[in-house]
Amino acid sequence: MTTKKKKTGGLAGVVAGQTAICTVGKEGKGLNYRGYSIFDLAEHATFEEVAFLLLHGELPLLKELDSFKSRLRSQRALPAPVAETLEKIPATAHPMDVLRTGCSMLGVIEPEESFDQQMSVAIRMLASFPSMLAYWHRFSQDGTKIDFESSEEGIAGYFLEKLHGKTPSDLTRDAMDCSLILYAEHEFNASTFTARVCTATLSDMYSAITGAIGTLRGPLHGGANEAAMELIEKFQTPDQAEEGIMKMLADKELIMGFGHRVYTVSDPRNEVIKGWAKRLGEEVGDEVLYPVSERIADVMWREKKLFPNLDFFSASAYHFMGIPTALFTPIFVLSRVSGWASHVIEQRGNNRLIRPGAEYIGPDNRDFVALEDRSFDDRMV
Ligand SMILES: CC(C)(COP(=O)(O)OP(=O)(O)OC[C@H]1O[C@@H](n2cnc3c(N)ncnc32)[C@H](O)[C@@H]1OP(=O)(O)O)[C@@H](O)C(=O)NCCC(=O)NCCS
Repeated sequence: MTTKKKKTGGLAGVVAGQTAICTVGKEGKGLNYRGYSIFDLAEHATFEEVAFLLLHGELPLLKELDSFKSRLRSQRALPAPVAETLEKIPATAHPMDVLRTGCSMLGVIEPEESFDQQMSVAIRMLASFPSMLAYWHRFSQDGTKIDFESSEEGIAGYFLEKLHGKTPSDLTRDAMDCSLILYAEHEFNASTFTARVCTATLSDMYSAITGAIGTLRGPLHGGANEAAMELIEKFQTPDQAEEGIMKMLADKELIMGFGHRVYTVSDPRNEVIKGWAKRLGEEVGDEVLYPVSERIADVMWREKKLFPNLDFFSASAYHFMGIPTALFTPIFVLSRVSGWASHVIEQRGNNRLIRPGAEYIGPDNRDFVALEDRSFDDRMV
């Protein structure tokens, strides 16, 4: 009997620290933020309540929520040097690079001078990232310089209004708000871990979040929602999609938006976002993208026992909301900054430098050869 060799590397299964912020499907706990089920939060809470919960550890009381929301609203405007920096970024840039640069620039203009400022910095980032993304997008499209005034109370509605230049529909606002809740936090994923490693050196919060944005950009992490959209759009019918996916699997290609390092049978967030994608698709009269997405999911389960993660149906949901594909991963940032900042604060609360060891697999005991005597033939690789 042959047994499949277990894959090693990637710190899979390694417990790299403690957290009181989130559980991801462990010991039957499912996905919980601070002990609250993602299903309850997605159904009953707003993104602002969830961000408060993550940052402070408790759901806000009515008064606390009001003051948190008004603080967020008062922090939406961008300092002029940040807006000017965004204007210099070409329209061809990837918007993740825009947010990475905008975050870093904000840290130059309004540095975190002491850890006592950490909650204010977190709120500043939460409030201003939607402005940065919408500002650059509109400016790079047609030179429009958006203002930051809005009667929209929450981040979801504010971002949609600034992006599209009009008040969003209730359905779109609610769907965006829910997607921000789903994307807000996910334990020691790659970008969060980046933020914690950076934080553990006692660096500032802007550096930690800038690094996290860079990590999220990759297609094996946040970039999967964009890659999923590009895939889904290739197909006109479910049958075409089935044929295309079968060929990709035969060619051993990765299908973006499927699989997960921690979940083994399903991603609980998928159920929720899939429901929104269906409703949004019905609203816009879609007869292609949603059925194609469903068929891809069926084929992936039938052939590989792989399930859609949050990114897969987020792709069609965002598309139905009229969001350009290149903005999908940046929207993930607008949400996840709440989780990242909570981890920065938690790491600082009980800090120790994160510095693992490595198993050395390189050559040993090599004799040093003088520069003039070296040749290619002596090389090992
Ligand atoms: C998320 C992900 C990076 C997890 O990676 P991982 O835990 O290292 O899992 P592995 O890459 O070892 O995958 C295990 C096996 O399943 C296959 N597999 C995993 N995800 C797959 C996918 N999306 N499409 C096709 N095959 C996949 C791998 O090729 C591998 O097969 P093998 O054992 O024959 O080599 C991986 O599932 C993936 O690349 N998914 C697509 C990107 C994505 O959606 N990312 C967002 C995550 S929320």
